Amino acid sequence: MRRFLEMKQAGERIVALTAYDALFAGLLEDEGVDLILVGDSLSEVMLGYESTLPVTLDEMIHHAAAVRRGAPESFVVVDLPFLSYQVSVDESIRNSGRVLKETGAQAVKLEGGDPRTCQTVEALVTSGIAVMGHLGLRPQSIHALGGYLVQGRDEKEARVLAEQARALEEAGAFAVVLELVSAELAVEVTRALRVPTIGIGAGPDCDGQVLVLHDALGLNAGFQPRFLRHFAKLGEAARAGVRAYAREVRAGTYPGPEHSFGREP
Ligand code: KIV
Repeated sequence: MRRFLEMKQAGERIVALTAYDALFAGLLEDEGVDLILVGDSLSEVMLGYESTLPVTLDEMIHHAAAVRRGAPESFVVVDLPFLSYQVSVDESIRNSGRVLKETGAQAVKLEGGDPRTCQTVEALVTSGIAVMGHLGLRPQSIHALGGYLVQGRDEKEARVLAEQARALEEAGAFAVVLELVSAELAVEVTRALRVPTIGIGAGPDCDGQVLVLHDALGLNAGFQPRFLRHFAKLGEAARAGVRAYAREVRAGTYPGPEHSFGREP
């Protein structure tokens, strides 16, 4: 965590991406990504649900343990899924403890910055559990928020969000994700906090950036919100690969003799 503070102080941007499996996690580690997030976007990206609400704590732990095996040297943060920390402080400590014990991750992330959530953050940090906050668009509250909309756009909402960011820092969060907020508000919060902000759809001036890996790599070419750039075209490449494989199997040109084994001499 000290490293992220130092990076902020040095003006070095923090590179974060999500991962949900060992193979991609290893790739991120090899490429020097600073922080790997096992996001509850797992629910949509890997498990095919419509939102982040259905994913369970056991599923998060299962995937986070795989990420840790694939990226043993990386700083791994795991999302606490919906209703694993909202019911009571005791439950949040027990569930976060499970995440750290059973996955080997270094930290958990949770959404919100209201006084009750900050009390939970404080209790977790007091128990020795590192916590990352998450403000702005909070996908676990998608029905209450009324959709995937930019948050904190009017003055009153912006004030509340800035206050909550400060409260999260005060409660001991080591960083705060800002999702889908105006660039102006993100700058204001980033300047006001000692701990780093990690943006997604929050403009160019946060201390770091996170994206859902599969979105960044263009695996889901149809998903193109304004804030997203496809840094690769893996979706197209994968489709072309599947088509070529099917063509060759159907034509009988794969497998060929060079892919075949002979008898023992
Ligand atoms: O679940 C997730 O992937 C996230 C990031 C989008 C920040 O929370």
